[in-house]
Amino acid sequence: MARVLTGIKPTGRLHLGNLEGAVRSWLGLMAEHELYCLVANWHAYTTVPATPRLAREAAEAIRQHTNDVAIDLIAVGLDPARATLFRQSDVKEHAELYLLLSMVTPVAWLTRVPTYKDLVASGKGAMASHGLLGYPVLQAADILLYRATIVPVGSDQLPHIELAREIARRFRHLYGEVFPEPEAKRGSSAVVPGIDGRKMSKSYDNAIYLADGPDVVAAKVRGAFTTPSKIHPTDPGVPEECSVCQLRRIYDPDGYSASWEADRRGERGCMQNKEELIEILEAVLAPIRRRRRELERDPAEVERVLADGAVRAREAARATIEDVRSAMRLT
Ligand code: ADP
Ligand code: TRP
Repeated sequence: MARVLTGIKPTGRLHLGNLEGAVRSWLGLMAEHELYCLVANWHAYTTVPATPRLAREAAEAIRQHTNDVAIDLIAVGLDPARATLFRQSDVKEHAELYLLLSMVTPVAWLTRVPTYKDLVASGKGAMASHGLLGYPVLQAADILLYRATIVPVGSDQLPHIELAREIARRFRHLYGEVFPEPEAKRGSSAVVPGIDGRKMSKSYDNAIYLADGPDVVAAKVRGAFTTPSKIHPTDPGVPEECSVCQLRRIYDPDGYSASWEADRRGERGCMQNKEELIEILEAVLAPIRRRRRELERDPAEVERVLADGAVRAREAARATIEDVRSAMRLT
């Protein structure tokens, strides 16, 4: 059975974009593979806070988001009995492997990584921490520690996985075969639009969150951007330019095309489209929300899942670390 590892940085609650762009494919892999899923809370610390107050607030937010993300993942169907869900910081072996991998990783590989390069290009390079430069090395450690061969991620993560492969190759060349080369597995390539038509993202304030209540979802959909040239209900719509139509295509794969065609003929108003989408989304979100609420009421259960995941993860991690130490003559 192939090992699959994936992770998510806890920077906020999960939204529909995260679900469809990344998490959905993990759920599919869970059935056939041994799945490790980490909440990458160390990765969330890579931005240097400007003041002690901001440092405190950021740390508190990361703690809160780590818990929220764990709840979101379980609520959408990540089954802790089948998959190993854990917090990165609970398994210290990640830090040891990060250190050792950093010894075989040329700095020039890291300064080429798009996220780092973009930051430097924007003139904010002086603020970049050593931890930010090392971000992909820590991510490589996350993956190689479990000797994972499959890494399902959104397309924004592909440069990081490529680097993890290069690090695995370099390690093998220098110290011998310890890690298999991991392969990225892209989830859906479709970008989920937010209610303003741009990519759904927590940074754009355009996201529908898994934790949003029915009234919030309805209000967001009613306020969503539709075809800009459609002023009257009888004007023809352009579904490709309408965020409501795009969301409908994702959540009503069998039924959307009839409504799209009617829309093109100017036979449907935007309000009708929106009310229908609200119902379609409710069918998806209501069970997730219910499960979320149960977990929120039982924080001890969430802690138990994460603690149990850490025990299982540590077991796998220790076996790899033994081999790494032995390959590098540290034992
Ligand atoms: P955000 O843009 O809200 O900060 P993240 O960058 O934390 O989201 O994304 C986490 C994962 O979810 C990434 O792997 C990314 O590919 C996926 N993802 C995020 N937003 C979308 C979207 N709108 N459509 C498809 N996938 C998305
Ligand atoms: N960098 C990833 C993100 O921002 C999160 C992550 C950390 C990850 N470690 C990982 C993803 C290992 C896949 C494998 O979403």
